[in-house]
Amino acid sequence: KTVCKVVDSNVNSQINYAQAVDILNAGEVVAFPTETVYGLGAVATNDSAVKKIFEAKGRPSDNPLIVHIGTKEEVALYVADISKVAKQCMDLFWPGPLTLIMPVKPNVLAQSVTAGLSTVGIRMPNHPVALALLQQLKKPLAAPSANRSGKPSPTEAVHVKDDLAGYIPYILDGGSTGIGLESTVLDVTQEPPVILRPGGITKEMLETKIGSVIQPTQIEQKLDITPKAPGMKYTHYAPNAPVFLIDCCEESVNKAVQQLQREGHNVALLAPANFHMSKADFYFSVGEAGSQKEMGATLYNALRACDKTTATIILATATSTEGVGAAIMNRLEKASGGKWYSA
Ligand code: TXA
Ligand code: MG
Repeated sequence: KTVCKVVDSNVNSQINYAQAVDILNAGEVVAFPTETVYGLGAVATNDSAVKKIFEAKGRPSDNPLIVHIGTKEEVALYVADISKVAKQCMDLFWPGPLTLIMPVKPNVLAQSVTAGLSTVGIRMPNHPVALALLQQLKKPLAAPSANRSGKPSPTEAVHVKDDLAGYIPYILDGGSTGIGLESTVLDVTQEPPVILRPGGITKEMLETKIGSVIQPTQIEQKLDITPKAPGMKYTHYAPNAPVFLIDCCEESVNKAVQQLQREGHNVALLAPANFHMSKADFYFSVGEAGSQKEMGATLYNALRACDKTTATIILATATSTEGVGAAIMNRLEKASGGKWYSA
């Protein structure tokens, strides 16, 4: 078993970054915060290091990783052709929660980063710790979310520790991540570009800048009408107890809680702050009613918190699919397997 060291990125930061860089250069993995979720990084040009990410996460090897860079100029080292739209997106949204899928330059990155695809996903994260680490390392970091495969992505260092202690040597703790949902994955090899995974950079934000963008609906994704990110086919973001979606209406939530309790269930409820009077056995707030920003930031922490309770069923209130709601509902659909509560 690997001993896992957790360090505060704000204390002795020079020593901590130097240690992290040494560990990465030695071909090991390091977990670090980004503005979306914590990532588990390895030097993206070192195949045996990248393979350690897959081992630690228990991740299927056909699921490619995102390459993180510390400066926009580096893109040209890994991408065969930067299209006009790709360039526009980098100028407008980087650093930030937008991963761009572009044609990969052959034989530069480790094979396992791209899982044999002819494209690569790249982003420049907007987080001081991630950027400081990348700029000191001066190498690209392949980094998926730092959770065990199938679990909600980590938004705090303790989530990473809960999932990966014993498997990884080092965690840079930079506090809560902020956005709380993984980056938008935009395929700019297609015309118009296609959103493979909704995230913090919304369809609406993209369209005001680069024109029409395709965002497949959940149904289209299920029917596989448009190509999707390989990772989207796996069950994701799921706590141990089954999750059911429910309309965000106090009366129907109260009825559902009572009904389930009569059936012998311990009910966990994920709902806005104004539901705090509900009779659910466990209640986790997802922020002020109507604030999708707060809901995105707190959702994974709330899903994970359910695993620390004796809940036998989880009710999660739905939100609209406008703006960042598209990303929230995408993750909730996955956590619930698309199941809605009905009496
Ligand atoms: O916010 C994020 O994106 C976080 C932080 C750490 O940066 N990272 C993250 O990585 O969520 P991961 O590996 O959990 O999700 C990457 C997603 C997967 O669904 C994967 O299939 C997709 O991006 N992906 C990566 N490369 C791709 C490619 N070449 N073509 C299509 N999809 C790709
Ligand atoms: Mg992930």
